[in-house]
Order: sequence, then structure tokens, then C-alpha cells
Amino acid sequence: MNFSEYLAEQTRIVDETLDRWVPSASAPPQTIHKAMRYSLFAGGKRIRPVLCMAASAVAGAAAGVENTACSLEMIHTYSLIHDDLPALDNDDLRRGRATNHKVFGGAMAILAGDALLTLAFEVLSRLECVDAGKKVKLAHELSSAAGTVGGMIAGQVHDLEGEGQIPTADLLDRIHRAKTGALLRASVRMGAIHAGAEEAQLEALTRYGEHTGLAFQIVDDILDVEQPSEQLGKTAGKDAQQNKITFPAVYGLDRSYRMAEQERCEAHAALGPFGERARRLHEIADLIVDRKA
Ligand code: IPE
Ligand code: IPE
Ligand code: MG
Ligand code: MG
Ligand code: MG
Repeated sequence: MNFSEYLAEQTRIVDETLDRWVPSASAPPQTIHKAMRYSLFAGGKRIRPVLCMAASAVAGAAAGVENTACSLEMIHTYSLIHDDLPALDNDDLRRGRATNHKVFGGAMAILAGDALLTLAFEVLSRLECVDAGKKVKLAHELSSAAGTVGGMIAGQVHDLEGEGQIPTADLLDRIHRAKTGALLRASVRMGAIHAGAEEAQLEALTRYGEHTGLAFQIVDDILDVEQPSEQLGKTAGKDAQQNKITFPAVYGLDRSYRMAEQERCEAHAALGPFGERARRLHEIADLIVDRKA
């Protein structure tokens, strides 16, 4: 199976699993379920769940890992819905369609985000054939990656408070490792934990997750400058408009490209111990750097 066939298959598994977990749009109260589904099924790239499943395959057999993978996509989608709110980035385009609050209103968008956040942990608590100790480890990974100490919310706070400040390398590093890096790292680690990876495997995969995580946000920042909104499915040029602290703002575009390459290289190197078994993870690292949206 070539990589694009593999991606299509993994994405289909993610979509089917999400569909099983999220109450149907006809379940009352209908508005909230419609709002959750609207953003979840809007054609996201599914990078986090795919990373999770690919990491689990490298670490060993992992029945039911697609459920763990979907908990990550729920947290990610919640973070996007809230990121777009008028009080945060104030965006009206996401995943190629109007943002959640534009369609359902601010109150329902806040609640849809809250609901996805809550559902993510319900999914982990209800994993079948996973012992209680492992479930606790998975919940800990996800909550700390999404949280306020080096996690996604910490990154969002630094990102918002950084608006208009002088862009320094130090602040940039703090924002990006937390805002995006933590959840990407957790995606890989949760797949490995679900599969019962040994400590050395988990360490190697964690390094891979950190490098792909940083590469991911460098590229997100570059694309915001270089690609049009139609290609991105979200508003282009937003970072400069809002004086965000980004890689291009601190280092310029050329150096940002080189830094993404450096992260790609280190991600590949971290997979050394796995040999050919890690082929999909190598391909995903390349996808993250080479993508155009
Ligand atoms: C965008 O994430 C937001 C960031 C964390 C930079 P993605 O580029 O993975 O967005 P989707 O899921 O494909 O829409
Ligand atoms: C958002 O970062 C990261 C999240 C935690 C959602 P951005 O604000 O750069 O994401 P985009 O560019 O709007 O997708
Ligand atoms: Mg933002
Ligand atoms: Mg944004
Ligand atoms: Mg961005």
C-alpha cells in the first residue's frame, strides 16, 4: 500500500470512529451535537490521530488504538473552535468553511468546544481491553498536553499575551512547544503507551514527536505567510495582521524553512532504532514538512 492509500485508510478509520463516539445530530439537544459534528467532520487532516495509530503500530499490537487516537482529534478540534472565537484569534474561516461561532453563535461554539474536551476523556475512560493503569496513563498524557503547564492552553496564553510584543526566540520557543508541540508529542506517546511500548521505545518515539511537533508549527507559520486562504481553508496572513510571534517574524522565511528541515532530519534520526518498521512515521514527518495546507 502506498502512503496516500495508507493515509486515506487511516483517515477513514478515524472518521468512522469519531462518528461512533459523537451523539448523532438528531439526539437532543440537537444544536450542540450538530455544532460538534460541524467542526469535527469538516475535513481536518487528522495528523494527530494518524500519528497516534502509526506510533502504536511501531511499538506493538494495539487493539482499539483508533479510540485513543480519536480522543486527540476531539481535543484538537475543541482547541480550533475556541482559537477561532472573537475573543481569541477572531477567525471566520476554518477547514474550508465558516467557523463554528459564525454558524452556531459564540455561546454554542464555546459549548461545542467544552463538549469535545469532555468527550475525549469519556472515550479514554471507556476504552475496552485496556487495563485501568494504562487508561490513567493515557488520561494523564492527554490532560497535561492540553493543560496550562507547558501544554496547549499555556501556549495559547503565551500566544495571546505575545501579540504586539517584540518577537524574541525565547518567547517563540515557549509558545510553540506548548501550543502545538505538546499535543503532537502526546499523539505519538499515547499510541506507544496504548501499545505497551518499552521505556527505550517510548523515549525514541517521544523525541520523534517533539521534532515533528516543532516542525509542524514552523510550517503552519510559513504557510500562513505563503499560501492563500483558499488553499489553507483558513484565513491567510492572519499572524502578521495580529502581530503574532511566529517563526517567520523572528527568523525570516529562509531561516524558518531551514529550521523545519533541521527538525525533519532529527525526527528521522530519532526513528533509527526501529528500522523499516517505522516507515509510516518517516512518511508522516515528510508530510508534515512538505504539506501545502
Ligand atoms: C492547525 O492544525 C492548528 C495548529 C495547531 C497549528 P492542523 O493544521 O492540524 O489543522 P486541521 O486539523 O488539519 O484542520
Ligand atoms: C492554534 O494556533 C493552535 C491551537 C492550540 C488551536 P494558530 O492560531 O496558529 O492556529 P491556526 O493557524 O489558526 O490554525
Ligand atoms: Mg491562535
Ligand atoms: Mg488561529
Ligand atoms: Mg497558525
